Amino acid sequence: MSAPDFVVAGSPIWLGPLDQTLLPWIETHRTAYSALFLLADAKAVPAGQAALQALAQRESNLHPCRLDLSPSPTYQPGDAEASKTLAVCERVWKAMVDAQLDRRALVLVLGGGVLGDLGGFCAATYKRGIDFVQIPTTLLAMTDAALGGKVGINFHDIKNVLGAFRQPAAVFADPAFLNTLHPRELRSGLAEVVKHAYIGSPELLQELQENHHLLKAPEEASAETWNRLLRRSIAVKARIVSEDPLEGGLRALLNFGHTFGHGLESYFLSIGKPITHGEAIAMGMLCELDDPTPADVALLRLLLPPAPLAQAPWLRVWERMQHDKKNEHRQIIAATPGDAPFALRKTALSPQEAQRRWQRCLRLLGELQ
Ligand SMILES: NC(=O)c1ccc[n+]([C@@H]2O[C@H](COP(=O)([O-])OP(=O)(O)OC[C@H]3O[C@@H](n4cnc5c(N)ncnc54)[C@H](O)[C@@H]3O)[C@@H](O)[C@H]2O)c1
Repeated sequence: MSAPDFVVAGSPIWLGPLDQTLLPWIETHRTAYSALFLLADAKAVPAGQAALQALAQRESNLHPCRLDLSPSPTYQPGDAEASKTLAVCERVWKAMVDAQLDRRALVLVLGGGVLGDLGGFCAATYKRGIDFVQIPTTLLAMTDAALGGKVGINFHDIKNVLGAFRQPAAVFADPAFLNTLHPRELRSGLAEVVKHAYIGSPELLQELQENHHLLKAPEEASAETWNRLLRRSIAVKARIVSEDPLEGGLRALLNFGHTFGHGLESYFLSIGKPITHGEAIAMGMLCELDDPTPADVALLRLLLPPAPLAQAPWLRVWERMQHDKKNEHRQIIAATPGDAPFALRKTALSPQEAQRRWQRCLRLLGELQ
């Protein structure tokens, strides 16, 4: 098989159709593993059907475990997040025990960031940790969540509070999965692509600024476009994670947009009108940039949620920003891009400064006179 497209903290990453990446990889590594356990998000399976059938035909010791993460048949942003729990982990661990997996079994995790985090966590804790591979099926997972070895679940409504660092044995990102993804989820992933552009790739930023149509109608993008964007975007995350695998410093840069973003995401969730992660991060980036240009505003506004943001009462967003993991000594810290690619700037946000930025942002969007 071909050489990996990237290596992130020791994990090889391939981009392309699963029959040319995952299947040959399994063939090469099969003797190292006693059994395969396929944990899959039911919504993602149809787009990978051909490769999965080919795998099932050649493999006698394959244990499938399919999870339906979103109870509602109609699209609801973020509804799979409610499945990132200990209770769902228990179901997966039970299926692993029933399949009599030993320490040499391999878990294949096929799904978006929710299943990637949960499945990776189940593998990282089963019998003190067994190997797993990530097969990300959302844009957000391909460009971000599946890379870097952070796995975990939510607990008592606190996001990602239980978890581990464990690098996947390999990652296989196949843009064919994007054909069945809801356009709002595509846009959510594009927000992370835009974030990578701001923090480490001026070429990618220029391409996105010159191609607003992609952000307006991502469902029309070709496989070739996705391949190119993913390649450029993954390169940024790969470099940061490889330099700082355990989040000691530079990796904070990946949190650009997330200080305001998490506050907003959590606020909209609390009123029963969830927005996507990417929608929240896009607004967060606009607030956290020191001096947004008209080009920044034009780009980021294409990724915002459909509801007007001025609806969010500032104090309730601010309240939720207090829980951000980057806060140091009770100060709210935003990690923003510095003057050069991969330069990290940390800005302490006083309550007045944070509110000033929020209002500036609403003014730029024409939501505040
Ligand atoms: N570990 C990390 O470093 C990291 C980084 C960023 C985000 N995350 C986590 O990622 C999660 C969000 O992930 P996400 O945005 O991928 O959302 P997700 O996994 O919830 O997927 C979004 C929706 O799309 C469906 N879906 C998945 N693949 C599909 C496909 N190919 N076709 C049709 N539908 C499909 C899912 O069932 C779900 O309803 C959050 O829990 C976040 O904490 C983790």
